[in-house]
Amino acid sequence: MSITKEAELAGMKKVSKAVACTLKEMQSYARPGMTTKQLDDYGAKILSDFGARSAPYLTYGFPGCTCISVNNEFCHGIPSGNKTLKEGDLVNIDVSAELDGFWSDNGSSFVLGADINQHQKLINASKQILHKAVYAIKGGTRISDIGHLIETEAKKRGYKVIKNLTGHGVGRSLHEEPGEIANYRDRFNPARFRKNAVVAIETFISTTSTHAKTLNDGWTMVGDKGGFMAQHEHTIVVTDGDPVVLTEMNGIWN
Ligand code: CO
Ligand code: CO
Repeated sequence: MSITKEAELAGMKKVSKAVACTLKEMQSYARPGMTTKQLDDYGAKILSDFGARSAPYLTYGFPGCTCISVNNEFCHGIPSGNKTLKEGDLVNIDVSAELDGFWSDNGSSFVLGADINQHQKLINASKQILHKAVYAIKGGTRISDIGHLIETEAKKRGYKVIKNLTGHGVGRSLHEEPGEIANYRDRFNPARFRKNAVVAIETFISTTSTHAKTLNDGWTMVGDKGGFMAQHEHTIVVTDGDPVVLTEMNGIWN
């Protein structure tokens, strides 16, 4: 969406606070021994206390409130009572929701407890790259230039990017104009970011794979060549200067 009046910005701030707080609270609540269903139920309660509703459930009928992906799972992991978190797991939580007709999206990868499997370097790279990408976006910036920045920064650190997962417009629905915001230079995308546009910027930084494929459960995505992936995501408003990071209070840069 494009922000045209103060009430729209207020609506976006409200739903963004809901998804950011939910993500942050879930991340600090996660413990080894907990199932991903328990973690999702905890997040669902927080979202509903804000009056917000799960975006993936509303939009796609996703079988959970939030997406929780563990280790070799890249994204869209289904919360399950049979999946128990362990020390050192690479966990990704993605929280998106609707509140009063406004939609916001954010996500974060983190290590559960001690980093016994050495995932922190990948996570730090993803966080830093998201920061660089977000602060390079102004009204008029080419979307493909941001993709190029993300891929270049990933390569510099010895990583790859996933080509078939992208950021997107958001605001009046979960996925909207300006369509796909790729993590590489998409030569077929001439579009530019517009001032006042609301967009979800997300990294997909991987150790081995360059594409994600869906498992037989119809939801969970893993790498075409395996390995691990870190994702960090903020919903922002594009301006002529620094963007307004609507989901900043999720604390992924702290
Ligand atoms: Co998301
Ligand atoms: Co998103």
